[in-house]
Amino acid sequence: MALAPRVFLTAEQIQNRVRAMGVQISADYPEGPLYLISILKGAFMFLADISRQIKTPSRIEFMGISSYGRGKTSSGEVRVTKDLDASIEGHHVLIVEDIVDSGVTLTYLMNVLEQRRPKSLAIATLLDKPEKRLRPVQVSYVGFQIPDEFVVGYGLDFAEDYRNLSDICVLAEDADITGPGNRDRGAGTGEKSLNP
Ligand code: IMP
Ligand code: MG
Repeated sequence: MALAPRVFLTAEQIQNRVRAMGVQISADYPEGPLYLISILKGAFMFLADISRQIKTPSRIEFMGISSYGRGKTSSGEVRVTKDLDASIEGHHVLIVEDIVDSGVTLTYLMNVLEQRRPKSLAIATLLDKPEKRLRPVQVSYVGFQIPDEFVVGYGLDFAEDYRNLSDICVLAEDADITGPGNRDRGAGTGEKSLNP
């Protein structure tokens, strides 16, 4: 058995949704500067795209958060691995996240940033997996609500692979793609097997 990415949201669907989110965010924040705080590494592509759709004068900041895990599940323990370079006190802040799953990461981050007294603090996430929520998080902007499937691509990884895919794919178990009669499956489609 191997794992292979299957397209779940195309690059075009993502771009259309990101454009609409940008219009909404621009309208909600008429005055800048708006601090866009992106969580490394998964949100880097979403940040690059949405920041260009936001007309409000914006500043870009990165934060590193580790949930002590390399696999498909987070351990529930969270810590800051890279902090902001700037003070956000008195400023509008929008956290730009790739995906909200259990809500543990964002609950922690909201607490950390709230203590720095921003003028406002809100969350924009490209993907939301509400089924596995352990902590309630108020998310102001959601790109797509998705079922409880593990997804990769467009910044999202599985053990650091697949981040550079333009589409968002489900990492699904696949029949042995190198097995007899299946040798050509996946050829030329960009499919990649894990643990073949
Ligand atoms: P939470 O703390 O459980 O909400 O986890 C959020 C983080 O887990 C995200 O920022 C991702 O880094 C990671 N994550 C959750 N679900 C997925 C997924 O389906 N694919 C890739 N990463 C995921
Ligand atoms: Mg993330």
